This record gives sequence, C-alpha cells and structure tokens, in this order.
Amino acid sequence: MKRYSRISGTGSYLPPHRLTNADLVADLAAKGVETSHEWIVERTGIHARHFADDGVFSSDLGLAAAQNALQAAGCAAQDIDLIIVATSTPDMVFPSTACILQNKLGANGCAAFDVQAVCSGFIYALTVADSMIKTGAANRALVVGAEVFSRILDFKDRTTCVLFGDGAGAVVLEASDTPGILASDLHADGKYVDILCVPGHVSGGAILGDPLLKMDGQAVFKLAVGLLESAARATLTKANMTDADIDWLVPHQANIRIMQSTARKLKLSMDKVVVTVDQHGNTSAASIPLALDFAVRSGQVKLGETLLLEGVGGGFTWGAVLLSL
Ligand code: ACO
Repeated sequence: MKRYSRISGTGSYLPPHRLTNADLVADLAAKGVETSHEWIVERTGIHARHFADDGVFSSDLGLAAAQNALQAAGCAAQDIDLIIVATSTPDMVFPSTACILQNKLGANGCAAFDVQAVCSGFIYALTVADSMIKTGAANRALVVGAEVFSRILDFKDRTTCVLFGDGAGAVVLEASDTPGILASDLHADGKYVDILCVPGHVSGGAILGDPLLKMDGQAVFKLAVGLLESAARATLTKANMTDADIDWLVPHQANIRIMQSTARKLKLSMDKVVVTVDQHGNTSAASIPLALDFAVRSGQVKLGETLLLEGVGGGFTWGAVLLSL
C-alpha cells in the first residue's frame, strides 16, 4: 500500500503582549521615529502584532503551539518520532530550538532538528517531514514554525520595524494510506542574500556585523510576487491539478498587497485566501501554520478541502505545498 503523510492536528500561539498600530506609533514617536496607522494599513494591511516578553524564546512559543496541535491530533508528545522547527530566531546558536522544544514537551529521544529558510521555513520543514514519513524514516512528526522577530528589529528603521511580530504555529503530520500532502516545490537563490538579511554573526565572544534586520522592501516585493506564482504553478502541475482545484490559498502572511497580487495571478478571489496578517504582522516561519490553524479553528477551511500553502523569504527562498486537509 502506498504511504502518504497527512495533517492530523494544527495549533498556534501568540504571546499576550499585543501592540496595535496606535501603540507602536506612540512607542516609535517617543524614539523620534515617525509613522502612522494609515501608512501601515495602506502599505501592508497590518493592524496589530504581538511581542514576546523578555526571557520568552521561540521554543516557548513553539511549545504552546505544539501542545495545541497535539491536542487537536489526539496524541501525546511521546507519540512523536520527529520534530522539525523552522526558525530564524533560535533560542541559542546551538543546540537547535527543536532539541530545546523536544525537552520542554517531554518527547525526549525522537529525532529533532531546525530548518533555516526564513519566511519559507515552514514550507521547507513540512516538505522534509513529508519526505521522511513517505520513506518510512518517521511515522508522526511535529512541524513547528516559531519566531521572536521582535529581537532582531531595528526600531529606528520605520521601513522594517512596523512589519514584523512574534508567534508560533504547528502541525502534527502523520503516516496515512490516503494522500494528505499532494505535492511540493522548493527553491532558493543565494544571489539575493543582501535584499533581506540579518548580516551579523557571533565571533570570539562578540557580535560582528549588524545583528538587526535589513530589507530592500521594493526589491523583495517585486521578486516575491513572481516567485510565488511560479512555485504555485509548479506544485499544481506536479499534482496534475489547476488553479480551479484550489479551495484555499494559505500564503505567508507578510503583506496584504503581496497576497492580493498572488491571488490575482492565480485567478483566485480574495475570499479564497486565508488572511491573518492584520492581527499579527509578519511572523516569518510561524505565519503559515498560524494562518492555517486560525482557518481550521474558525471553521473557514474544512476537512477534505484542497489547500495551497506558499511562502517566500530571505535567502532568497520560496516554495509551496499542496495538500488535502
Ligand atoms: N511610515 C511612514 N512612512 C514610511 C514608512 C513608515 N513605516 N516606511 C517607509 N515610509 C516612507 C518612505 O520613507 C518613503 O517616503 P518618501 O517617498 O518620502 O521617500 C515612502 O514611505 C514610500 O516608501 P517605499 O519603500 O517606496 O514604500 P513601499 O510602498 O514600497 O512600501 C513596504 C514599503 C511595505 C516595505 C513594501 O515595499 C513591501 O511590502 N515590501 C515587501 C516586503 C515584505 O513584505 N517583506 C516581508 C519580509 S520578506 C517576506 O516575508 C517575503
């Protein structure tokens, strides 16, 4: 019998400290940085974001999301034999956030590692977990996207600090004899490193270079829309499907205008697009599983529907996963 992987539960978590645009505008004004609710909403669609308190790490946000996903899947942490965490804001240089999360969950002993593909991280992690389940290397995986992007924001740079937030999302992916994940498509092009990066690193006990996020927003925007369309089309082709087969697009939640452009290119109306960016801003690798969990729990998406998940981010990395829920 052919072996597939299928999502059996979703979960997410946003830290309680929520800043509306008005809160952020006031905080930034106190630092001499001028922005406005109107500018942020018009250019990005973001209304609020959540920031983790000091001492709270990606593994803590990931833990809460993972526990919700496990509960939804009706299984215990000890039933998991693979943990993959997608993050660009790990708790430590090493060990991986996946190992730290594994211990907090009490799933000690299973395989655990991080995937670093910035905002495409969850798409990469889901594809790796799917491949490991299909080959028999794992039976039940926890795939988590968790980020504390507030730690790498430059609050003097209004072109970036208004865009991002903290959060986590997770899915339980398990072996199944009916298809869940139908196809996926991953890409990267390292020549675009400079348009979106955190160029600093740790060396000899000091931080060398700049440890804060740098982005050429317009270059990212232009690249993102074309790459998302090509990844979506390549994934549909692999599954012998077309735009018309998509019930829901669950895109990386970076910017409403990127989502609108992608939907237009795929001839999908915006009521087929899951949008949560207004509530949490860009949470990088956490944004797709956060949006997915919101859509599942609110009853927006239903069992048996066909979902196209897609992401793009620093690297440059991009990809898509087509699945039957
Ligand atoms: N508040 C007020 N004014 C601002 C702000 C702000 N927060 N930021 C920039 N401006 C000003 C600029 O200084 C500029 O002023 P000027 O015309 O007097 O020079 C004006 O607004 C326009 O700036 P642009 O950079 O041209 O604004 P743009 O329309 O391109 O919007 C944005 C900027 C939102 C970053 C856009 O380029 C974008 O969405 N890029 C995609 C990037 C993205 O979503 N990245 C997320 C991470 S990557 C990923 O997840 C895919």
